[in-house]
Amino acid sequence: MTTSLLDTRPLPSRSAPRGTEPLSLLFEAPAEASTGVRGGLPAELRRAYGGDLTIPLRDDRPTVIANFVETIDGAVALDPDGRTGGGAVSGFSSTDRFVMGLLRAMADVVLVGAGTVRASAGTGWTPARAHPQAAGLYRDLRRRLGLAPEPATLIVTASGDLDPTHAAFRNADVPVVLAGPAGTAERLRAAGFPDDARIESLGDGDEVAPEALIDLARRMGARVVLSEGGPHVIAGLAAAGLLDELFLTLAPQLVGRDRDSRRLALLEGIALWPERASWGELLSVRRAGNHLFLRYRFPEDAS
Ligand SMILES: NC(=O)c1ccc[n+]([C@@H]2O[C@H](COP(=O)([O-])OP(=O)(O)OC[C@H]3O[C@@H](n4cnc5c(N)ncnc54)[C@H](OP(=O)(O)O)[C@@H]3O)[C@@H](O)[C@H]2O)c1
Repeated sequence: MTTSLLDTRPLPSRSAPRGTEPLSLLFEAPAEASTGVRGGLPAELRRAYGGDLTIPLRDDRPTVIANFVETIDGAVALDPDGRTGGGAVSGFSSTDRFVMGLLRAMADVVLVGAGTVRASAGTGWTPARAHPQAAGLYRDLRRRLGLAPEPATLIVTASGDLDPTHAAFRNADVPVVLAGPAGTAERLRAAGFPDDARIESLGDGDEVAPEALIDLARRMGARVVLSEGGPHVIAGLAAAGLLDELFLTLAPQLVGRDRDSRRLALLEGIALWPERASWGELLSVRRAGNHLFLRYRFPEDAS
């Protein structure tokens, strides 16, 4: 691990565990035969990630991967309203940010739900924003993989409750697509988003079918969709059998819950068990200090 890649400045919270150690590979399942893959990594990124990274490509639709960080007791947001981001969950782990940036660098489209947009004040879902120290390496990787300079951002909303002045809509280098049911799309068109934010109407229901969302990503040219949406978006993808892989950071924090602070878990809004419960296959385990970085695959027949 080169120290330049991982920020070793002191962490902002006194109680946060250290999260800046290098990644080391503890376990990796043998690679399965696949018709096509995206990746591998150049030497410097491979060293930083503790090994290579490839993502299998599907012929029938884009491969859908998701990235999350959760506490040991399963919280993905610390405040009851889901207004805080993953940083507080990970203890502001720079290693987690590095992996997030790496996954963005491998994706064509980053998918987020309106809840995550409302919780974020940041300038969007680019590799460099996740981990500025590796911006040049991410850029080179995308060039080497023949990808667009930045992944597009695809935002899904049913309410249309999004602020057109949000910083995420102000990065001219990142294509932004807002998708919602027909009535919502109409409202979004009247809401004053920047001209280059594309608005897509997907169906007449109250919500967008996850299949329609991933098909939109396909029409946008995506072979790999990275879901950085919160627990409602990932629940929809998992329930529809569209979640191929999950990159899950386990932060060594216990936060608990009581009646006043329920805290969001990884999947919300849809109960999968018993009919649609899904068993994953563990593909790899990495460790950085006390954080674990888990990669799961969810085969289509895993229910
Ligand atoms: N720990 C982590 O790694 C991590 C990752 C991501 C997010 N988070 C946190 O999770 C919290 C937000 O949770 P969340 O569940 O609200 O986030 P989310 O899943 O990104 O957003 C949920 C919202 O997305 C829209 N949506 C989702 N599926 C839809 C569908 N099929 N059709 C139409 N609209 C759809 C709806 O927006 P409308 O309400 O506008 O209708 C819904 O309320 C935040 O605190 C965020 O920081 C944590």
